[in-house]
Amino acid sequence: MKVLVVGNGGREHAIAWKLVQSPQVSLCLCVPGNGGTANLAKCENISLSVEDFAGISELCKDNQIDLVIVGPEVPLSLGITNYLQAENIKVFGPDQVGAQIEASKSWAKALMDEAGVPTALGETFTDAKLAQEYIAQQGAPIVVKADGLAAGKGVIVASTVEEAQNAIAELFELGFEKLVVEEFLVGEEVSVLALTDGITVRPLLPAQDHKRIGEGDTGNNTGGMGVYAPAPIAPPQFMEKITQEVLQPTVETLRKRGIDYRGVLYAGLMVHEGEIKLLEYNCRFGDPETQAILPLLETPLEEILLACAEQRLSEFPSLKWKAASSVCVVLASEGYPGTYEKEKEITGIDQAEQQPAVVFHAGTKMQLGQLVTDGGRVLGVTATGETFTDAIAQVYQAVEKIDFEGKYYRRDIGHRALKH
Ligand code: AMP
Ligand code: GLY
Repeated sequence: MKVLVVGNGGREHAIAWKLVQSPQVSLCLCVPGNGGTANLAKCENISLSVEDFAGISELCKDNQIDLVIVGPEVPLSLGITNYLQAENIKVFGPDQVGAQIEASKSWAKALMDEAGVPTALGETFTDAKLAQEYIAQQGAPIVVKADGLAAGKGVIVASTVEEAQNAIAELFELGFEKLVVEEFLVGEEVSVLALTDGITVRPLLPAQDHKRIGEGDTGNNTGGMGVYAPAPIAPPQFMEKITQEVLQPTVETLRKRGIDYRGVLYAGLMVHEGEIKLLEYNCRFGDPETQAILPLLETPLEEILLACAEQRLSEFPSLKWKAASSVCVVLASEGYPGTYEKEKEITGIDQAEQQPAVVFHAGTKMQLGQLVTDGGRVLGVTATGETFTDAIAQVYQAVEKIDFEGKYYRRDIGHRALKH
């Protein structure tokens, strides 16, 4: 089987890494890929934009690609799936309408209501004044969400009415035309990524990420500083509840609307005293969740992704997992999520991988034969162990082998798993 992975992050490195482990996969093209995928056996980076659908289509035909797996939300929301399917190319990832589940907060909110999925109470606004009046009535804390892809910067959890009202003004000024204002929910978050072929849905192991930059979950929000799976907060019977109350009704409602959704349905959930509420959907694999989840997967990934694209996921009544715990720690550039320097020499990856651990590249590149930093989040180091205590010890031993100027990471990834 020949596959093509779209994207260049740690998530895409983890997907490609998993795919090429299978003897059935003979070639994995990565568009554009990164410093990690460049060095994988059977893998080749192709320097094309993820938005160059015509180029990707041609590449698929020239190489007889059997399946395209789309990592990021942007090409999905621009309709990469529609384009490639029209050229008879199989794709794992929803079409442009389905991708609105992530690309439009108001669309997603309406879908949640239609599906009867438990979520925060909220209203959609196209008028700043009405939104501000609503906030004054509701009081704070309150949450403001921009309607549109905002690279993780479109959600403001406001602790005062004034902060929320300022956020409204700013988002409209930035050019967003619609906003969702919703009640503030308390609890612990968990990410449940599910695979679906538009009919059948199979959740992956639940994961919990650490979004804040600082230890003890303090400071600014980031793309994610580390993650662990399976999250003890969502044991198997709880996953069954999530499947019944959130995932299955969502897939059924999409189908009723005529949306043939074949890809990842990612539910960001808030758990409080055993109750679940859906915070958001994403239309793709999570980053860095994927880097912690895929090392535990035993069912061949290419088989299940192809089954989703061919709408025969029901052939897999359950997915097989290693009975182990997995922890991924992100190494970032000093200054991230603010400004940071790039092109710092990276050393010690081979030594880290002897721990044993696996090092996924997020923001790296080759420069004159030397691997250097090329982003805010640079690497994701994952280790698995019989228990979280083992996995955490393993991962930090590996992390310490890696060096680059300004290396920053949190030392408390997985602390919530130990508490359970
Ligand atoms: P979203 O992109 O909708 O997941 O929002 C990003 C982050 O904002 C979430 O991961 C939560 O930490 C927080 N958040 C979103 N909605 C709410 C809410 N209703 N109550 C509390 N926190 C929220
Ligand atoms: N880890 C959060 C996300 O992928 O959106």
